[in-house]
Amino acid sequence: MADRDEALCFDMYGTLCETGSVTRTLRTELDIPGGFADVVDELWRRKQLQYSYQRGQMEEYAPFSTVTEDALSYALAYYGLDPDEGVRGRILAAYDHLDTFPDAVESLAGLREAGYGCWVLSNGDPGMLERLSENAGLSPHLDGLVSADEVRTFKPAPPVYENAADRLDREIGDCRLVSSNAWDVAGAAHAGMATAWVNRSGEPAERVGGDADLEVDSLAALVERLG
Ligand code: LAC
Repeated sequence: MADRDEALCFDMYGTLCETGSVTRTLRTELDIPGGFADVVDELWRRKQLQYSYQRGQMEEYAPFSTVTEDALSYALAYYGLDPDEGVRGRILAAYDHLDTFPDAVESLAGLREAGYGCWVLSNGDPGMLERLSENAGLSPHLDGLVSADEVRTFKPAPPVYENAADRLDREIGDCRLVSSNAWDVAGAAHAGMATAWVNRSGEPAERVGGDADLEVDSLAALVERLG
């Protein structure tokens, strides 16, 4: 039962779920070696983030599923790959079946047991988030999903974090973003949220936005710190 004042808002892609798990699908659907699938995937993810920032800047919102599809299209074209619609569809569908990080489910369960409300706060559109949280087995451990789609822009724009606080009926400082994406943590801190940076690979902090007020190297370590 959620009896803490503070609510936890988890980033989905890269924090609870591993985006790199789509490389398996890239490898088999495109019939390419693993190393090549890794670079296609890396460019796909980089372009996905870039297009979300660009759409935010240009005030040209499109759902994250469109952003993700456009980014895939760019990455395939960059590497001279031109699969048919069926293959493209199956690659995109892999986004509904990402692996969770090994400690994700257990950590959510532990944090809820410790009295925290646990939500997803993601750039993903509602359909993507519902399908992934269901398929990944996250749904039973979540209090709900908050999508950037509700305010038609993307993190790190302040309205996305502010809308989450409204939805959770809390002051923004009583909501804590939990993210592995340093830029997301910096954006949430800038908007006035409490933050926990799950810095799995020991990256340096961003030089723009706010500072993380808690840094851990895994979700399991977060349970120890907050529980
Ligand atoms: C998310 C991506 C952008 O918001 O990490 O879930």
